[in-house]
Amino acid sequence: MNAQPLDHAIEDKVQALLSQMTLEEKVGQMTQIDVSVVTVPNGQDVDQPFDMSKLEDALFNHHVGSILNAPSTPNNRAQPIEKWRSMTQTIRSMAEKSRLKIPVIYGVDAIHGATYTDQSVLFPQAINMAATFNRDLSFKEGEIAAREVKASGIDWNFSPVMDIGRQPLWPRLWETYGEDVHLASSLGSAFIQGHQGDDASAADKAPTCLKHYVGYSFPINGKDRTPAWIGERMLREYFLPSFEAGIKAGAPTIMVNSAEVDGIPGHANYQYLTTILRGELGFTGFTVSDWEDIIRLYTRDKLAASPREAVKIAVMAGVDMSMVPFNFSFYDLLLDLARSGEVPVSRIDEAVTRILRVKYQTGLFQRTEPDIAVAGHFATKEAVAINRQAAQESIVLAKNDQHLLPLSKKASILVTGPTANLLSVMNGGWTLTWQGDNEQLYPKDKLTLFKAIQQKTSGKVTYVGGNSYQEEINIEQAVNEARKHDVVVLALGENTYTETSGNIETLNLPFPQLQLAKAIFATGKPVVLVTFGGRPRIITEIAEQANAVVLGFLPGMEGGVAMADILFGDVNPSAKLPISYPRNTNDIVLYDHKPIESYETNQYKPLYPFGHGLSYTQFETTGLRLSHEQIKLGEGIEVSVEVKNTGKITGKEAVLVYLNDVAASVTRPSKQLKAYAKVELKAGETQTLSFELPAEAMSFIGVDMKRRIEPGEFKVMVGNQTVSFTVN
Ligand code: BGC
Repeated sequence: MNAQPLDHAIEDKVQALLSQMTLEEKVGQMTQIDVSVVTVPNGQDVDQPFDMSKLEDALFNHHVGSILNAPSTPNNRAQPIEKWRSMTQTIRSMAEKSRLKIPVIYGVDAIHGATYTDQSVLFPQAINMAATFNRDLSFKEGEIAAREVKASGIDWNFSPVMDIGRQPLWPRLWETYGEDVHLASSLGSAFIQGHQGDDASAADKAPTCLKHYVGYSFPINGKDRTPAWIGERMLREYFLPSFEAGIKAGAPTIMVNSAEVDGIPGHANYQYLTTILRGELGFTGFTVSDWEDIIRLYTRDKLAASPREAVKIAVMAGVDMSMVPFNFSFYDLLLDLARSGEVPVSRIDEAVTRILRVKYQTGLFQRTEPDIAVAGHFATKEAVAINRQAAQESIVLAKNDQHLLPLSKKASILVTGPTANLLSVMNGGWTLTWQGDNEQLYPKDKLTLFKAIQQKTSGKVTYVGGNSYQEEINIEQAVNEARKHDVVVLALGENTYTETSGNIETLNLPFPQLQLAKAIFATGKPVVLVTFGGRPRIITEIAEQANAVVLGFLPGMEGGVAMADILFGDVNPSAKLPISYPRNTNDIVLYDHKPIESYETNQYKPLYPFGHGLSYTQFETTGLRLSHEQIKLGEGIEVSVEVKNTGKITGKEAVLVYLNDVAASVTRPSKQLKAYAKVELKAGETQTLSFELPAEAMSFIGVDMKRRIEPGEFKVMVGNQTVSFTVN
């Protein structure tokens, strides 16, 4: 086990402080409240949202360790940056006046940038970042998110989501880096490194929080916060490694799975939270509960017989901080449990040690005001340009018959469909509000797809559609206009949603969208299908009839311009799918399926496979070779390959290296991604790429639930080439 390193100077300070703390102060450290507990109602509408007596009560009488969210639930929304700075300053100054001057750690869900700060740079969501296959962009997103969070005076980011997205119905799929373990581990780690740097106490760096440990993303019925049934091997093969990678990358906090696995709620799971997280993964930071989830062990899960028992179960399982968030019940109950000895003070000391450790590591004790200025650190031109590049590299060209794309800038275009003229549908949740659905709040200078197309062309561009997802499109008008234009851009997909509000019964598209598509196809005009949304909604029949298909997912604030950049060929698309795009609603076979899933009549036959993505140029990979034909057990191997741009224009190509263990004592996936790199090549240019596959790449969880490598043959696949080696 590689434990996260400890700094002795910090450990000494933590112990010195802990020894001065009363039980009340300790239990307070473990308490996190929503900011609405200490604000006036509708605090979002006033300059100074605090109810000072409530804030004093929280800090001086309840000693709270943490506050979250934007003012004020349930109407919380993005706030001006100066307001954030003064709000967090008010808290900081008040904490300075508390007996031990312990700073409060303020957290928000800055999941694609500083969600709740007006004008922040909001990136493509994680599913899109995954489609970039570009670690450098993920690193930069982390840098920018941290900087803008810190410029807002905020301390802590509840991001990245390290859950693996293997259930396409799940309404949080878009918050994940997709279905592959290696890709998610690698991009999530890059994000963390950008966000925290080498020194998480630096002025422009901030701590991350891995979510939602563990198994949350795999609800059997696809609905958010419903049970997963994950056997130990599956847990260790698919769901733990990304968290392990995040811990290695230095994430100091982890949020707990809000649902349950194998009948045990995340917040009651001692084996996951303590035996594995601490004992095996060496995590030294603190865990925070998810929203209200401790009390839910009583109210929802019926695991505890009372709220008091719920607190005991969660704390004893290994939850260090409770996102209560609306009252001090956790504080009162835990205090009582500690006084009666039902929760040993040693367990409380352990939790508080971890919380204080992170507060020291991240420089909170030195911070007397926001660490950095707004100017030069917030919404800079450079950050917007990187955001645009990320959006461009995250949009997947899935089909392009007869080279309909790129479109001529002189073409006359009808733009229609429910996602054509809204910014919210390209941003998704946690954009300015929790649900991201308040279109009025979106910045006026950002362009929807329709407006971006209009701005780029000299041809006639017409838009037909209700301006909201719910409103039905006037199909007759759309058809009439289609007849008068050269080409139709048909923008379908989803509205925005976050968490349980995004639960659906089917992946099929809503009926009005299907009707619109059918009517447009009947005109015989060439159609470019564009989709936006957080999940792969079924588009099979529409995609068959469309001449081109471009999958936008949630490309963020620059999504409209980035999509137009691709449609008109100002940018050559380079994204690849980080998920298998299903052909049918129940066609949930993932790319790294077991042999039995593609045996006899079974098939892996998605509409578009994992890794699919076209370009306006062509690439060829040749000369795949290995450093050795045979290696010893425990050794790594080097893979080399040449990639050539055989087309006529410059393009970027993500080269994906897959491995297959030919025979093993536990069935192995037909192939698994083990390495990747993205390169830019001019027309005719060739580059040789080398990849190190470490021994762990050949490992799996054996019959005894331990990671092992077995001798025998392995295949390495890149493009349509395959080579083999043996492990002796
Ligand atoms: C979500 C978390 C989020 C938390 C705080 C919860 O409902 O599940 O992902 O970090 O709220 O906003």
